[in-house]
Amino acid sequence: MPDTASQPAPPDLRAIQALAAPEMAAVDALIRRRLASDVVLINQVAEYIIGAGGKRLRPMLLLLAAGALGHRGADAHQLAAVVEFIHTSTLLHDDVVDESDLRRGRKTANAVWGNAASVLVGDFLYSRSFQLMVELERMDVQKILADTTNTIAEGEVLQLLHVRNPDTDEAAYLRVIERKTAILFAAATRLGALLAGADPGTQQALHDYGLRLGYAFQIADDVLDYASDADTMGKNLGDDLAEGKATLPLIHAMRHSDAAVRAELRRIVEHGEVDALPAVQAAIAACGSLDYSRERARAYAREAIDAIAVLPDNDFTAALRGLAHYAVGRDH
Ligand code: IPE
Ligand code: IPE
Ligand code: MG
Ligand code: MG
Repeated sequence: MPDTASQPAPPDLRAIQALAAPEMAAVDALIRRRLASDVVLINQVAEYIIGAGGKRLRPMLLLLAAGALGHRGADAHQLAAVVEFIHTSTLLHDDVVDESDLRRGRKTANAVWGNAASVLVGDFLYSRSFQLMVELERMDVQKILADTTNTIAEGEVLQLLHVRNPDTDEAAYLRVIERKTAILFAAATRLGALLAGADPGTQQALHDYGLRLGYAFQIADDVLDYASDADTMGKNLGDDLAEGKATLPLIHAMRHSDAAVRAELRRIVEHGEVDALPAVQAAIAACGSLDYSRERARAYAREAIDAIAVLPDNDFTAALRGLAHYAVGRDH
C-alpha cells in the first residue's frame, strides 16, 4: 500500500470545503437559527464564538461520511449542527479550564464575559444539542451521542488529573486525547454512516477512521502549540505549557533529554511556567520531539486512510482521505 499520508502533497482544505459547501451553508443556517434564546447574554456569547468561525471540521466530516455512502438530507444537516454545538460547548468550557484568552483569533468568551458566563452558555449549547438530537427520534443516534459526550467529559477530567504531573507518559497522553478529542471525530463519521443506512462493518470503518483522524488532529494541535504563532493559530503559543499540560512533544523531550535537562523540564511542568517556553522549545528541538510527534500524527493519518479502504471510491471518500492529510499538515 502506498504511503499516502506522508507524501508532501499540500492538503487542499479549500477543495474539500468546496465539495461540502452547499450542504455546510445549510448547516450553518441551521446553527444560527437554533442558537437563539430570549436570554440576551446567551445570544451574545453564543453568537460571538460561533460567529468567529472555526474550521467546522466535525460537521463537515459527518456530511462527507454520509456523502461517501450516497446519503444527504435534512437529518445529516441536523446532526452536523448537533456535533458542532457539542464541540463549541467543549471549547467554552475548555478555555475556562485552560485559562486561555485567545480562540479563533479573538479574545475567548471567558476573557470577555468571565468564567461563569462561559460555563453556563457552554451548558446551554450542550443542552441545545440534545434538543436538536432528540428531534430525530432515533435511539441509535442518541446512544452514540450520549456515550460520546460522557466520554469527552471523562477525557477533560482525566487530563486535569495529569496537570503538572511530569510522570505523564505517552500512553497516558493517548488515553486523554482519545477521550477529549478523537471520540467526537469518530462519532461524527460513524453518525454519517448510520444515517446512510450502512452495515455494521462500514459503520465501524468510519468510526475507526474518525478516531485515528482525531488522534492525528490533536497531536498536530499539540505540535502547533510549540511551533506556530498566535496570528496563524488564532490561539496563544505555549498555552499547554502555561497550564502544566505535558503533551507529546514535551513528553518525548523529557524521556530523551540528559539528566540535567530532564530535571529542569520536570520542574517546569510541575510549576506550569510559561516564561520557560524558550527553554522547553530548545529541549524539544534538541530531541527532535516535534518531528517525532509529527510522525506519530502521520502514522495515525495513514491508519485513518487505511480504515476507509472499504468505502466506494468517489469524491467524498477522496475528501475524507484529503482531510487526513490536512489534519497533519495544517498550520491552524
Ligand atoms: C480545537 O478544535 C480543539 C481541539 C481538539 C484541538 P478545532 O481546531 O477544530 O477548533 P475550531 O472549531 O476550528 O476553532
Ligand atoms: C481540546 O483540547 C479538547 C476539547 C476542547 C475537548 P485543547 O485544550 O488542546 O484544545 P485547544 O488547544 O485549547 O483548542
Ligand atoms: Mg485548551
Ligand atoms: Mg491545544
